[in-house]
Amino acid sequence: MFAPIFFLCLSTLAVASNLHFLRDTYIGHDFLDTSRWEWETLDDSTHGRVNYVNQSTAIALNLTEADDRTFFMRGDNVRMVSPAERGRNSVRISSFAAYSDSVIVLDLLHMPTGCATWPAFWTLSKAGPWPRGGEIDIIEGVNNNTNNLASLHTTENCNMTQMRDHWQSGTTVSTQCDTKYNFNQGCGVSFSKPKSYGEPFNSNGGGWYVMSRGSYGIFVWFWPRDSYSVPIEISRGFSAIDPNPFLWGQPDAAFPTDNCDYQSHFDPHRIVFDLTFCGDWAGSDPVYSGCPGNCVDFVNNNPSAFREAYWKISSLRVYTPVL
Ligand SMILES: *[C@@H]1O[C@H](CO)[C@@H](O)[C@H](O)[C@H]1NC(C)=O
Ligand SMILES: *[C@@H]1O[C@H](CO)[C@@H](O)[C@H](O)[C@H]1NC(C)=O
Ligand SMILES: *[C@@H]1O[C@H](CO)[C@@H](O)[C@H](O)[C@H]1NC(C)=O
Ligand SMILES: *[C@@H]1O[C@H](CO)[C@@H](O)[C@H](O)[C@H]1NC(C)=O
Repeated sequence: MFAPIFFLCLSTLAVASNLHFLRDTYIGHDFLDTSRWEWETLDDSTHGRVNYVNQSTAIALNLTEADDRTFFMRGDNVRMVSPAERGRNSVRISSFAAYSDSVIVLDLLHMPTGCATWPAFWTLSKAGPWPRGGEIDIIEGVNNNTNNLASLHTTENCNMTQMRDHWQSGTTVSTQCDTKYNFNQGCGVSFSKPKSYGEPFNSNGGGWYVMSRGSYGIFVWFWPRDSYSVPIEISRGFSAIDPNPFLWGQPDAAFPTDNCDYQSHFDPHRIVFDLTFCGDWAGSDPVYSGCPGNCVDFVNNNPSAFREAYWKISSLRVYTPVL
């Protein structure tokens, strides 16, 4: 039955205090600090119609901006892209710091959305090579989606087959985290809470995304900007927090360790923000349908369709169990 499992889960977590302390804060200009964030110009491994540019190019083309309180990253919404070019200009950044057991708190004001877009806020093993050390996708979606998808991608012997009845508000849509299954779909949870993604998220002023990871598993919480239940330590950026479902309520996505040994699948991760276009997911046949024409042509020829294709970040804080 559901109730006893539920109770056990709560009591286990409630007994041990799991305090985490503020280790790193990233606000405004911090994201432009090239000793803290790498501006990556690699080819997109998901085959997107994207040209990731370096920081000086991004600044020159008005694809990034920072002030004391806010940081922007945009896809280009001005220029046409010729077929010979690598793709539409955009930005991908990765933190140099890598974190293992931790809580990551993102206060986000706007995320990229619209036809052909595929933004992600995620973490990735620093040591790799992928999928060794794992990948944790916290915010991800495509095109005009309105529900966030959180997922894990791992080496073998990691699944969430026990999760269908697990204590989370979202819906499990795939259970094999091992990248060798289902063309690297990973194990994913589609969020049920309203305003978690895309236009509804943005028009509500965004919200807070929190990912906690440790030997107890990996949890993702989301609170929309107008939430009355967002914990004050998250909305105010306290210097210590306790990522405890007993205090914070049901996670939106829960990835317990029952069928996935945490230590052998997850090592220290860098934090990544990116925005690609089309590619393996956003541009795939049934997924892109509903948006105009052919995805690549749409990206090349419709710069003004990308006016909503930007990240606007209020703050990113990382907490670890020890200082
Ligand atoms: C950034 O990219 C531009 C265009 O590719 C290139 O000319 C420039 O040298 C690069 N700057 C740095 C600092 O790498
Ligand atoms: C930079 O881009 C933003 C968003 O598209 C726009 O509002 C702003 O006017 C642009 N600034 C410049 C200097 O072009
Ligand atoms: C899920 O993972 C567990 C532990 O590795 C394994 O015993 C089980 O066979 C797996 N189940 C499926 C359906 O892959
Ligand atoms: C997706 O969003 C774009 C721009 O926001 C809009 O023009 C288009 O009609 C939308 N498509 C669907 C299928 O909702």
